[in-house]
Amino acid sequence: MRTQVAIIGAGPAGLLLGQLLHSSGIANVILEQRSGEYVLSRIRAGLIEAGTVDILDRAGVGMRLHREGLVHDGIEISFGSHRHRIDFRKLTGKSVTIYGQTEITRDLMEARAAAGAPTVYEVEGVSLQEIAGDRPRVLYRKDGVTAEIGCDFIAGCDGFHGVSRQTIPEASLRIYERVYPFGWLGILSETPPVSPELIYVSHERGFALCSMRSLSRSRLYLQCGLDDNIENWPDERFWKELKLRLDPEAAAGIVTGPSIEKSIAPLRSFVAEPMRFGRLFLAGDAAHIVPPTGAKGLNLAASDVYYLWQALAQFCETGSTAGLDGYSDRALARVWQAERFSWWMTSLLHLFPERSPFEQRLQRAELDFLARSTAAQIALAENYVGLPY
Ligand code: FAD
Ligand code: DHB
Repeated sequence: MRTQVAIIGAGPAGLLLGQLLHSSGIANVILEQRSGEYVLSRIRAGLIEAGTVDILDRAGVGMRLHREGLVHDGIEISFGSHRHRIDFRKLTGKSVTIYGQTEITRDLMEARAAAGAPTVYEVEGVSLQEIAGDRPRVLYRKDGVTAEIGCDFIAGCDGFHGVSRQTIPEASLRIYERVYPFGWLGILSETPPVSPELIYVSHERGFALCSMRSLSRSRLYLQCGLDDNIENWPDERFWKELKLRLDPEAAAGIVTGPSIEKSIAPLRSFVAEPMRFGRLFLAGDAAHIVPPTGAKGLNLAASDVYYLWQALAQFCETGSTAGLDGYSDRALARVWQAERFSWWMTSLLHLFPERSPFEQRLQRAELDFLARSTAAQIALAENYVGLPY
């Protein structure tokens, strides 16, 4: 098989790139190691920046998001038993949208099927060959049979544990990393949201986040230990702990119910530079990870893909490599802004076991400043709604 761009991974990054390339008449094939149903069953992001919505519209997959997504004009930060609203619309003129990553993935999968563009699911042993030359190839096995795709470019959209980044010689990559000493325990439940807007909670028992997927479905997170296990967290214990971390009014209004999904995610900051080696371009979690506190992971995957699409389209239309040569620097400039913001939100809101009493007081002083200072609120709001492309 031959194609122009071989895309590794059918998560949001790979599927969105495929759709944008298709809209520019650039042939592409996606290889995914899991089944389509498995990809759709992974409950992850839910908060979509306005810029990401624009890209989804450009890819022609924004219709259901505009119909079913919930537009939010602000969030609440809770500490010391009080909630403080950050008004995005007033402070930045922008809003964000609640729409699940699974829904975006579903919309992209359907658009891809309708376009007749090929995705090969459940492939094994993907290996990238001759990425330093002009004629890279991808080898894989499907149903026990080895196959090969010859291509002009490879897009590594295969997430943090994927093969693409690992194919780049170690000496050609610079890695920056921080692992946080806690995780997030998340549940999904068929219960109404705790409050009309998201509540980010900083509490002496640990961080909590009350989010949602719809007006009848909640997505809730609790800071937990790194070695914690979901078996330790029956639903009753989860709800009890959440109430303890919330202000009395929010706690009193909670509607509890059985969880329909429960998982623990570790928190990490990670950047691999540069995001290109020869004809291989990395995008999304394959190149960088942010702790989820700032809701930036999926949004960054979308901005990487937008830059990469522009660069590939420029090359295919004009033969110019300017966009491709500038891709890594352009994407990384935005990535590092999101890394900084996600690290800051994480530091501001979580309980860090190793922090001294002095550092704990500083954290509280920063929260107090945020609650009082319009300048501090603008800084948060501007980053949260998404920096410009
Ligand atoms: P992935 O979604 O990881 O997709 C990569 C795909 O590649 C997968 O389907 C995988 O199976 C496939 N693959 C891997 N290896 C191979 C291989 N060797 N061959 C073929 N295929 C392969 N982000 C936000 O913006 N907002 C949020 O609110 C938010 N909340 C989050 C909450 C949680 C609990 C978590 C865990 C994450 C959250 N994120 C959020 C982050 C977001 O989910 C990720 O950043 C996003 O999924 C990245 O998309 P991706 O396509 O780059 O990678
Ligand atoms: C969600 C996840 C986040 O990490 C976040 O900051 C906001 C919302 C969510 O899953 O809804």
